Amino acid sequence: MSFPPLKNDLILRAARGQHTERAPVWVMRQAGRYLPEFRELRQKYDFFRLCQTPELATQVTLQPIDRYPDLIDAAIIFSDILVIPQAMGMEVLMNPGPVFTTPLDVPEDMQTLQTDHINERLQYVFDAISLTRTRLAGRVPLIGFCGAPWTLMCYMIEGGASKTLQKSKTWLFKYPDQSKALLQRLTTACIAFLVGQVEAGAQLLQVFDSNGGDLSPHDFAQFSLPYVAQIVDGVRQQLEERGLGRVPMILFAKGASPALAATANYDTVGLDWTVDPRDSSIPRDVALQGNLDPAVLYGGRGAIEREVKRMCAEFRVARPTTGWIANLGHGITPGVDPDDLEWFFQCVHKYSSLDSK
Ligand code: CP3
Repeated sequence: MSFPPLKNDLILRAARGQHTERAPVWVMRQAGRYLPEFRELRQKYDFFRLCQTPELATQVTLQPIDRYPDLIDAAIIFSDILVIPQAMGMEVLMNPGPVFTTPLDVPEDMQTLQTDHINERLQYVFDAISLTRTRLAGRVPLIGFCGAPWTLMCYMIEGGASKTLQKSKTWLFKYPDQSKALLQRLTTACIAFLVGQVEAGAQLLQVFDSNGGDLSPHDFAQFSLPYVAQIVDGVRQQLEERGLGRVPMILFAKGASPALAATANYDTVGLDWTVDPRDSSIPRDVALQGNLDPAVLYGGRGAIEREVKRMCAEFRVARPTTGWIANLGHGITPGVDPDDLEWFFQCVHKYSSLDSK
């Protein structure tokens, strides 16, 4: 597919650890409920209807890009990590958080999952990506994504968000082999889905392991790391075989040790706000993304400026000529004032630039 030439490649360079004049910036969940234009569309359409209708998903993806021109350095396709379980035949509703009508209860339930030809049922995501690439007209790169197998497994077993992850952890410790079989089937689906997203036009990929930090380092190394490592290796290999070149890949394993996450060989590791980017256990050859506490955006302009300045100084020590993508340490929350997010972007531009003091 051919698309208009890219005018801003800051994030692609930073994700590969290359020099940039300032840190590129985007925020997780940048198309979401804090934006009045999103809430307006959302009143008319069900969440997954938005995801499944390429024209609407494209409109939503472009909302923050149109609102913050020249301030935001990437678009992320509007979708959800739960589209993979859906494509495997599970019913997921959003009311207001995700609810699976029939979660997996015991390992035998895995037989109901349709893991073949997953990409055929996800064609709507690819169509949305291609349409968005065209409408972006080269303004900024487009990020594709998926959930990490462990995080997806949690939702499929818990049936929604859970604080304790009691049921999914029961699987890990009671049925470790069957858990690994499920994780493996999800891994294969994730690889095909990410490759399909690049074929459709995605220029950067992020894997979200939002529940990574709920595992001990030992269990993370057994039940998450091998699968996210297979994803990066598998995607790189298939992209090369198809002549699609190399696309930078980001692993965001929230709460997990970044040093451990870095062993998976992604180009960039995402940090949440509990990590100091100067932590000496993080290898130097990986680029970093993060990591402002999203709650700082509730503190008003003074606090935002102060905290962004501090964050930039810390990353300057960790990555002196960048190789850093500025972001929040997790998704933006619904109550944020969109003007305060604009101020966040302006502060990142100012304090991350290499000629700022
Ligand atoms: O970042 C973006 O702007 C792209 C779109 C995106 C969404 N979800 C849209 C969304 C992305 C990248 C995701 C990822 C996602 N989805 C994750 C990983 C990141 C993270 O936050 O940890 C997870 C765990 C999910 C599953 C999910 N989807 C949950 C737990 C929820 C409810 C929580 C909430 O924020 O309300 C969703 C719903 C969801 N996904 C919304 C959006 C904009 C809000 C729902 C709505 O509009 O009603």
